[in-house]
This record gives sequence, structure tokens and C-alpha cells, in this order.
Amino acid sequence: MTATQERAATTDRAEITFQDCLKTGPDTIGGRYLRLFWQPVHLSADLPAGRAGPIRIMSEDFTLYRGESGDAHVVAFRCAHRGTQLSTGWVEGDALRCFYHGWKYDASGQCIEQPAEPEPFCNRIKIRAYPTTEYLGLIFAYFGEGDAPEFERTPEFEKPEYVTVKSCKIWPSNFYTNIDNGLDMTHVPRLHPQLGDTKFLHVLSARETEYGARVDGWTPPFHFCMPNIQEFGARPRSGGTSRWMYGRGWRVPIDDCSHLRFDLQIAPVTGEEAQRYRERMAAPPPEGAAHLLEAAERVLAGEMWAGDLDPKFYGDVVNAQDYIAMVGIGNIANNPFDEHLGRADVGVSLLRSIWMRELRALAEGRPLKEWHRRDDLWSGGPNSPA
Ligand code: FES
Ligand SMILES: [Fe+2]
Repeated sequence: MTATQERAATTDRAEITFQDCLKTGPDTIGGRYLRLFWQPVHLSADLPAGRAGPIRIMSEDFTLYRGESGDAHVVAFRCAHRGTQLSTGWVEGDALRCFYHGWKYDASGQCIEQPAEPEPFCNRIKIRAYPTTEYLGLIFAYFGEGDAPEFERTPEFEKPEYVTVKSCKIWPSNFYTNIDNGLDMTHVPRLHPQLGDTKFLHVLSARETEYGARVDGWTPPFHFCMPNIQEFGARPRSGGTSRWMYGRGWRVPIDDCSHLRFDLQIAPVTGEEAQRYRERMAAPPPEGAAHLLEAAERVLAGEMWAGDLDPKFYGDVVNAQDYIAMVGIGNIANNPFDEHLGRADVGVSLLRSIWMRELRALAEGRPLKEWHRRDDLWSGGPNSPA
């Protein structure tokens, strides 16, 4: 390559920084990258047939509804007529009728009725509809351009004989803060002392894999599936089972300063133990436990001390501790902070470099790495089913 060609090649290189990983809108490179993957948007059980609701995902608003057939659909947020919010309308069969003047759209977004029009022009009106599917009790949608990629299944979670707990919570922090936290294992002895792993790790290793990244140095290893999924062994919840669980958690941006935490935790228990565990999970939370994130907010406001979080609500306290640390970081998408990463941040640094490499490739129109989850991430670990 001549010096001139080299200069031209350098000039053509997209300038990508960590800030680009934090932006989620449709016109940002980070948002465009995330939109290349199916994302969970709702818990299936929380959307009855015949109901519609608004959802905000990656800084955009959409309408989610479940048709009377039982199928879930995601379409544009606004009616094409005068722009009112379609989620206020009525579900009719698998179609959605606008609340304002009654225009009706089928699940493909095609307008099929304009009741007040003497000469309907439905054939010229179509709102956007997004591929939607359900899996493991979650509703997923694809928001990218073109055809959706094949939906990747995770057989290790398809075990009806075990008990799977699903949850979705909103956290007021950038989704990437939560992603970072998963690969940042050295926070565990300090932030979660009740877990008993009090020894700080000084030797951690992190490496890129076919599915994303893996961090070792802790038992069990932590797996990260690109672009926004964490997998990890989870300690038993008190009172239910003594078996470790395995978790898969999606960190889905609502916008640049808040995100949805979808978590599946599967417990390898059967028979009476499974029954006891199901009953424990169905029971109302112990007094105080439901308010832990509220307590975490009070800690951030200086009205309470983190040490007062009640450790008897074990798993939830871990969540509250993480919440305090992550929300405490603040809104890094709009107010970047001058961090100082060290050797202990090896997992964090690795994932950021992978993300930035992929964003650069996308910006430059080069091929992206194709990610594939292995089917033995759980069963290969020490916490796997017997
Ligand atoms: S705004 Fe929807 S039908 Fe008029
Ligand atoms: Fe944590």
C-alpha cells in the first residue's frame, strides 16, 4: 500500500469510541447494531389476549398487543391518520382499531378499514410491523431493517421438568452499565459480602468466544452472549432449594438512561423439591423485600445506609446492591465520566473492545462477526444439573 493509499484508508476508518456503545436510538451506530438482534420486550404472562400497550425500546416507541388468537404483535406507536397512540385502541381478532376515528390495521400493519371515508384508501396506508415471537415466557421482537435473523434457541432453558423463574425490572441506568457489571467480577467480594466470597481476585482472565466472552477466575465462569445477554450460575435462594440455579439475563435499553432487565433463572430441581420451590416462588415476598429497590434509591439519596439492607432477603439484596452501584454511576450516555480502568477490569475492557470493533465494522460496511451460543454453557459448569 502506498503512503497515499494508507492515508486514504486511515481517513476512511470510522471513529468509534465507548460513547457510541451507549447510544441506542435508531440513528446511532450503537442502536443500529443492537437492532440486528432479537430483543425481549415483555413478559408473556403480563400481556393477556385482546390487550394492547405502549412499549419503549432502544429510544423508540412501539405498540405491543396480543391478538384474540393468542399471537403477540408489535407495530408502530402511532396511527397513520392523525397520529394518536395506537395502544389506546381496541384489539379485534388479530387486528388493532384506532381509538380516535377507528382506522383498523392488521398484524402486518396494513390498514384494512377507514370507517369515515366515503372512498377508503386503505391500500395506500401501512404502518410498520415488526417480527415478533415468544420463547421461554418472553415476547421478543426484531427492530432491524430487512429480514429478521433466525431466532436462536437455548435448549438448556427448555426444561419443563425444572423450575424457571422469570422477571422483568426497570433500572434507571444505561443498559451498558449493567453489561459491564456482569464482566466485572472483582466487585463481588466488596459489594456483596454476604455471598461469602471475601477474597479479592487478582488474577482474572477474559477471552473472546464464539458467543461473546467468558471470564474465568471465579466459580462458575461468567458467560456473556453478544450483544447484551449475561449467563451465570446463581446461588440458591433461601428457603427454596439448596441447588444452584443458572441464569440468562437480557439488558435491553428503554432509552439511553434506563433499561429493562429480563432475567430467567432455572433451578435443576424436580419432584417434591420442585414443588416446594414453586410454592416458595409463588408466595408473596417477605415483608420488606418488595421495597428493596426503593430502599436502594434511599441509599443513593443519602437517607439510608447500604449496610441496613436486610440480608435475609438474599437474592434481592444482591440486586439492590448492584442497583446502588450501577445507578450511582449516573447517566454516562449523556454525561461521560473520565474512568480509570485497571488490570482488574480485564473483562470490562475486553467486551468494550469487542463492541467497538463490531460498531466500527458496521460503520465501515464490513462483515460483522456472527455469534453463536453453545448449548453447554450451563451443563459444562460445576453448578450444572447432576
Ligand atoms: S388518528 Fe387513528 S383513526 Fe384517526
Ligand atoms: Fe453484583
